Amino acid sequence: MRIYVPGDAAAKALGADEVAEAIRAEADKRGVAIEVIRNGSRGMVWLEPLVEVQTGIGRVAFGMVQAADVASLFEAGWGEHKLALGLTEDLPWMKMQTRLTFARCGVIDPLCLEDYEAHGGFVGLHKAIAMAPEAIVQEVLDSGLRGRGGAGFPTGIKWKTVAGAAASQKYIVCNADEGDSGTFADRMIMEGDPFTLIEGMTIAGLAVGATRGYVYMRSEYPDAIRVMEQAVLIARDHGLLGPSVMGSGRAFDMEIRTGAGAYVCGEETSLLNSLEGKRGVVRAKPPLPALEGFLGKPTVVNNVISLASVPVIFEKGAAYYKDFGLGRSRGTIPLQIAGNVKHGGLFEVAFGMTLGDIVDNLAGGTATGRPVKAVQVGGPLGAYFPRALFNTQFCYEEFAGAEGLVGHAGLVVFDDTVDMLKQARFAMEFCAIESCGKCTPCRIGAVRGMETVDRIARGDAAAIPLLTDLCATMKAGSLCALGGFTPYPVMSALTHFPDDFAPLKEAAE
Ligand code: NAI
Ligand code: SF4
Repeated sequence: MRIYVPGDAAAKALGADEVAEAIRAEADKRGVAIEVIRNGSRGMVWLEPLVEVQTGIGRVAFGMVQAADVASLFEAGWGEHKLALGLTEDLPWMKMQTRLTFARCGVIDPLCLEDYEAHGGFVGLHKAIAMAPEAIVQEVLDSGLRGRGGAGFPTGIKWKTVAGAAASQKYIVCNADEGDSGTFADRMIMEGDPFTLIEGMTIAGLAVGATRGYVYMRSEYPDAIRVMEQAVLIARDHGLLGPSVMGSGRAFDMEIRTGAGAYVCGEETSLLNSLEGKRGVVRAKPPLPALEGFLGKPTVVNNVISLASVPVIFEKGAAYYKDFGLGRSRGTIPLQIAGNVKHGGLFEVAFGMTLGDIVDNLAGGTATGRPVKAVQVGGPLGAYFPRALFNTQFCYEEFAGAEGLVGHAGLVVFDDTVDMLKQARFAMEFCAIESCGKCTPCRIGAVRGMETVDRIARGDAAAIPLLTDLCATMKAGSLCALGGFTPYPVMSALTHFPDDFAPLKEAAE
C-alpha cells in the first residue's frame, strides 16, 4: 500500500512527521506492507496533514490527520472513516484549479527523478535543447509570461536583454527570498517539485548563454533548502546539470545560497550584493542587473515561480500557456490565501478571477465567521482592498487601476475587528525596520510616518495631509519598492477606511 504524507513545512508544522512515524509503526505492528512517500503539499493547507492512499481508482484523501487517528484509519482499512474526503482530484478545491506550474506538486515524490519524468518532467528541457537560443527566448516572449515575483516585467524581454549582452560569463539568479506576508508559493514548489525549478533555470541558461546559476534562498526555509540541495546533487549525478546538459554539449550548473533573512534582500540588487558576500543594500539602477548583475556580469534575476513556469511553457507550447488569462496578464497565477479565512492555501488559476470570488467562495469567508473588512494583496507593501472593490479582477493592470498590486499574489484577509489605522502604522514600522538606509525618503520617511500616524491616533487632524504628503514623497523619491510601495497600504487604509482614522471620523460626525 502506498501512503502519501506531505513533507511540506506547513504540513510538518501541523504534525505530518508524527503522522508518518505513527503510520510506519502501526503498519509494522499489524504486519502490513506499506510504502510511505513524503510528497509536497496539494495546497489545501487547512486540511493538512492531508494523507493520501493510492487505490485502484486514484488517490483517496484523509484530512487533518493526527498521529492519534492512525490506528483507527488502519482499523477502517483506509476506507470509511470520519476523516475520509474522497478522491483527492475530485475535491472542489482541486477541480476548480488550472494547475500548470503546480501540476506535479503534491503528486510526485519530490526527489524521485523517475516520478518527475513520468509526470512530464524534462519534456520542456528536451525541446529547448533542440532549439536555438533566440528561439527559446522567442517562445518565452510568445507565452506572455511576466515576472511572478511582483513587478510583472515580461520575462522574455528580460532574457532578450541578457542574451543580447556581450560578456565572457553570464548568470541565472533565482530569487527565492520569498518575504511577502501571506506568501508561500516559492517554498511550496521548491519543497514539492524542485526539479521544475532546476529545469526552468537550465532552460534560462541555454536561452541567454549563462553557464552558472544560483538560487538565493531565505534562511527561514530549512526544508526547502535541504530539498533543493539534494535535488541539485541528484540532477548533477544524472548529467542534467554539468558540462554537458543531457549530453547536449551545452554547460549549465547551479548551487544553492542562503541569505541571512533581510526583507530587502528580496530586492534584486540587494540580493546580488548579498550573493557577492556584501551587505544587502540596494544598488541604484541603471545599470540593470540584466547588463551588470552578479559580479558585474549580465544576469537574469527571476523569481522562483517565473522560472518554475518555464518548463510547462515548453512542454505544452507558448500558445497553450498564453491562452489562459485576461488582457496583458497571461497564463496562470498561484494565489496564496492566508489570514482570517476558512480555507487558506494555494490555488493556481488563470488570471481574471474577481477578488470577491477568491475571498468569499474560494477562501469561504473568515474563520471567525465575522464580515470581511479588508484584504491586503501583494504583501506588506500591497494595498488594502475594501468590499467595494471586490469586483476587481486579479490581473496586473486591473489591480494597478485600483491603486493596488498583484505582487507575489499573496492575499491576507481581515475581519471587521481590524483597526486600519494600526495597519497603516504597521506598514510604516515595517518599512522603518527593514529599510536598508540607502535613501532618505525611506530611511527617514518611515520613522516620520510612524510618528505622523501616532499623531492622527491622538486626534490631530492636521497630521492627515502631512501623512498624504509624506506618502507622495516616499512613492516618488525612494530608490526601491520598499520605501516606494509602503504608501500603498498606508494610503489605501486612509482612503478606504476613513472611519478608523479618528479625526476623519470626528469631522464626519
Ligand atoms: P522593477 O519594476 O524595478 O523591475 C522589474 C524587473 O524588470 C527587474 O528585474 C528589472 O531589473 C527588470 N527590468 C526592467 N527593465 C528592463 C529591461 N529593459 N531589460 C531587462 N530587464 C529589465 O521592480 P522591482 O523593484 O524589481 O520589484 C518590485 C516588486 O517586487 C513589487 O511589485 C513587489 O510586489 C515585489 N516584491 C516581492 C516580494 C516577494 O516576496 N516576492 C517582496 C517584496 C517586493
Ligand atoms: Fe533602501 Fe528603503 Fe531606499 Fe529601498 S527605499 S534603497 S530599502 S532606504
